[in-house]
Amino acid sequence: MSDQTGLAIRFLTSMAQALATMSLYAEGHPARARAAGGSFDTLRDLQRADPRPSFSFLGSEVVYGQQAIRGLTDWEWATKLANVGVQRLEFADMVERDAYVSFLEDVLARVSAFTAVAAANAAANAPTGRGHGPTAIRFGAVGVRGSSEVRLPDPAVQVTDQPSLLDLNAEVDAIRWVHDEVNDREEIPLLEAESIVRSLSVAMHGDSQMLLPLLQLKEFDQYTTTHALNVSVLSMGLAEFIGLSPKEVRAYGVAGMLHDLGKVRVPKDILTKPGKLTPEEWSLMRSHTVEGARLILQSDQKLDVAALVAFEHHIMINGGGYPDRHFRCDCHKASTLVHVCDVYDALRTKRPYRDAWEPAATLAYIERGVGTEFDADVAKAFIAMMEKWEPRLAFASLSPAAA
Ligand SMILES: [Fe+2]
Ligand SMILES: [Fe+2]
Repeated sequence: MSDQTGLAIRFLTSMAQALATMSLYAEGHPARARAAGGSFDTLRDLQRADPRPSFSFLGSEVVYGQQAIRGLTDWEWATKLANVGVQRLEFADMVERDAYVSFLEDVLARVSAFTAVAAANAAANAPTGRGHGPTAIRFGAVGVRGSSEVRLPDPAVQVTDQPSLLDLNAEVDAIRWVHDEVNDREEIPLLEAESIVRSLSVAMHGDSQMLLPLLQLKEFDQYTTTHALNVSVLSMGLAEFIGLSPKEVRAYGVAGMLHDLGKVRVPKDILTKPGKLTPEEWSLMRSHTVEGARLILQSDQKLDVAALVAFEHHIMINGGGYPDRHFRCDCHKASTLVHVCDVYDALRTKRPYRDAWEPAATLAYIERGVGTEFDADVAKAFIAMMEKWEPRLAFASLSPAAA
């Protein structure tokens, strides 16, 4: 472990201790100031080594800069902070003691206000620290957090005793943040992307049986995020269903999540255009495949499967589809797998120009496309998976506030 990482762990530990101590005393009690002051000193030490430290809290994961902090995997504060809407914490500049103390007070107020019932509302009503006031501390959801409402499609689905399985707000916020980062910096925050996939995988396996936690679209603006999450979940489900290793399953989950990343380069009015696209618009739309692969590869060479999937997920098994290629070659298995999941989620989602397809009609479409659009083995496995796990689909929908 580097010295810097050690300082980061010391700071996080002291922050948690300060919050715990502060919660024991009434506002204005000198013990609160002492606890906050002790933690501030560790922040100072950290900022001497790393002037702009940043942290992400996702489920039980803590990411410091570009690195997952293993020693803090079970650090309960990662979940506590994420629960109250602090999923990202950035120190943009040297922090003054007063600013840090009021940050801690703010977090403490959120934690105190947090109850299982009021969780989503507390986070939605609390302002994000991003950009407000003169403070150098920016914190908040990695996106905008909203309340979630849960709809179970089938009364036979016994998941009500585990509502956390259906709260996908943290993952949704994180995916939106990943898209923003790609837009702003042309770089994919890989560790956070992997954390999202791990977190989704936990949601899928939190029960004794497999669960496919999918999002239902309410507002078209949420399509990009909702679709990325659903394709990631379906791709992991299918990869697991056909017996791939846990490592491959996660890699397919990342690939599914990033498959349409190139759409950050397509103008929004084209993405959301309800009518037919002009040839120029269509060509721009098709370019999301090449753009996505380029963005992924330039961010991280290790994401070669994700880059291939971004490039190939609209190529049909008979050679049709796009992008245009100069020669024919077989697509990677991950691409054929994500292709089926992509089409399934797209058809099951309401669009401005058509209603959502029913599950049976969607599976029938996939069956008809075996051998022409879809790889036969993959499509048949998908249909078998859906027939087996359809009762285990769990739908959550985001409120318009989360858009
Ligand atoms: Fe696509
Ligand atoms: Fe897609």
